[in-house]
Amino acid sequence: MIPNGRKQCRSRCQVECADSAEMEKMVEINGKTRVCGLIGYPVEHTLSPVIHNTLAGLLGHDLVYVPFPARPGSVKDAVRGADALQILGLNVTVPYKSEVMDSLQEIDTLAGNIGAVNTLVRTEGGYKGYNTDMEGLYRAMQSEDIKIEKERIILLGAGGAARAVAHLCALKGADTVYMLNRTLDKAEQVADEVNRMTGRNVICPILLQEYHRIPEGRYLAVQGTSVGLAPHDDMVVISDPAFYKRVHTGFDLIYNPWETRFMQLVKAHGGRAYNGLKMLLYQGIIAYELWNDVQVTKKDAQVVYERLKAHFGVS
Ligand code: ATR
Repeated sequence: MIPNGRKQCRSRCQVECADSAEMEKMVEINGKTRVCGLIGYPVEHTLSPVIHNTLAGLLGHDLVYVPFPARPGSVKDAVRGADALQILGLNVTVPYKSEVMDSLQEIDTLAGNIGAVNTLVRTEGGYKGYNTDMEGLYRAMQSEDIKIEKERIILLGAGGAARAVAHLCALKGADTVYMLNRTLDKAEQVADEVNRMTGRNVICPILLQEYHRIPEGRYLAVQGTSVGLAPHDDMVVISDPAFYKRVHTGFDLIYNPWETRFMQLVKAHGGRAYNGLKMLLYQGIIAYELWNDVQVTKKDAQVVYERLKAHFGVS
């Protein structure tokens, strides 16, 4: 029930957001409406339309954002088709962040180093690929006053997501990153690659169950594995209290569930803990800024964040 005098927001989230709704303009699709979208498989559960369609409304842009399911094997055709249709920009999600790189005109250096692209911007001769996930994580951390520079960090995982976090930490001047993974080989590969690139031994690979080898001290811990993702809410890679006593801040890249087991354990041992929703928010905002050559204000970012939160029943 929406109280009198309040408007219901347009982005299908069915929440009352009177202030923002009053500032927003409806996008009425016409002959000049620009289209952005998402390619991935599947895409049914994406929250990206909430981010981009809300921003278009807040900024009064004549733009709509649409998810496009691209069947396995169809990514090249999807990118070529998008170019032919003059689609302004695309996000790219699982499972195509690496595969899409073969279909691009140009790749930004950071995305090339990470080996994953999540944002395409249309240029004269085709699309240019960027990785806004990492800069998104960085902005999310900045917004919570979490420092990477000169920090000693524990990074759980060595898959696609954790690999990108390792690059970010090295790039932003972390002191040391202890990369814990169930498969040591993978952590060693990432360490070789990142350490060679930065010219210093910033990434230190350790087998997951040997976490006690991490030197004494209190750390920022980034949870970059897929363990704990809904519906497996009660799972966590490490449950030993001795580990959590070393964590002053925990950042889980997962945002579904809202509070992961990892976050609960960090908090139970006196640390502060954050989920990955702000990372999702800022990767989207950076993509929107690239497509539209604008700077999104903190105030507008907050409006979008509130809408995203509403999807989790959190106020
Ligand atoms: P993403 O793109 O989300 O990073 P991914 O590349 O498949 O997905 O990586 C998943 C990460 O979660 C890996 O670090 C994986 O460890 P392995 O490299 O040993 O496979 C980690 N992971 C997944 N299931 C795990 C489990 N049950 N225990 C510990 N680590 C797990």
